[in-house]
Amino acid sequence: MVDMSRLAACAPPSLLPWSSVSASRAPLPEQTVRMPAFARGSGLLSGATASVYDALAAAYDEDERRMAWSRPVDLGLLFSFAKMVTERQGSGVVGDLGCGPGHTTKILAELGLRMTGIDASSAMIARARANLPGATLAVGTLLHLPAVDASWAGAVALGALWHAAAAERRTTLAEVARVIQPGGTFLYSFVTSGPRQPADSVYFLERWLGVEVNLELHLLSVKAAATEVVSAGFEVIAATQREPLPHELPLRRGFLLARRR
Ligand SMILES: C[S@@+](CC[C@H](N)C(=O)[O-])C[C@H]1O[C@@H](n2cnc3c(N)ncnc32)[C@H](O)[C@@H]1O
Repeated sequence: MVDMSRLAACAPPSLLPWSSVSASRAPLPEQTVRMPAFARGSGLLSGATASVYDALAAAYDEDERRMAWSRPVDLGLLFSFAKMVTERQGSGVVGDLGCGPGHTTKILAELGLRMTGIDASSAMIARARANLPGATLAVGTLLHLPAVDASWAGAVALGALWHAAAAERRTTLAEVARVIQPGGTFLYSFVTSGPRQPADSVYFLERWLGVEVNLELHLLSVKAAATEVVSAGFEVIAATQREPLPHELPLRRGFLLARRR
């Protein structure tokens, strides 16, 4: 059972209450240059994507250290996810797919979940190891998850499939469905659209957190993402979208909380 007090107890004191977060935030470095939408299709499979995240790891880690507790909608969904997992299972491994430097992994671990983090970027995993000493973390691809069928209580994939084109998302979502037990929980976040960027387009990112990058973000409406998740074998419990926060890339975030059928 998730205890509400754990949510407050594991938050850095300087980041509570929520309202103090935006008031005290220092400006961040330039984050993005937006280019015309185009599709090159390098996507999730590309080793180049992992190299970009290797280069971003230090800046991303520092950014998330400050920001992981600044997103009320995301935190609410993480808490809902943790509650669904613990109330159904009591125990069981939960995957953090594309865990990056592990700040979300840490929040979920502090809420009582038994976490395993996987990321294609070895620099991100090195950061996660420093942030979560002793945790189960591995360099690996989401296209072949290191778990037997129906062995996990749940998984989160937060921002991890941003760079995946449709075929890669299909493969990854099938893998997620394979490893999660029937009745297990999946929390999935993605980018939906921007002020002048429609859903189902590709957003090209040239500079992020002061680092030169070369990344595609495949935007997806909540409805389209839900269709893909349902096709993979889940039922959608909750679906929502939020506006970007001032320090984030200028793209709306979509969320699906789903249960394995
Ligand atoms: C935007 S970051 C999100 C990190 C973390 N989930 C968070 O919410 O802060 C995306 C992460 O997904 C990882 N990633 C991208 N493609 C991947 C793949 N094919 N297999 C494993 N990890 C991948 C990247 O290395 C990166 O660390």
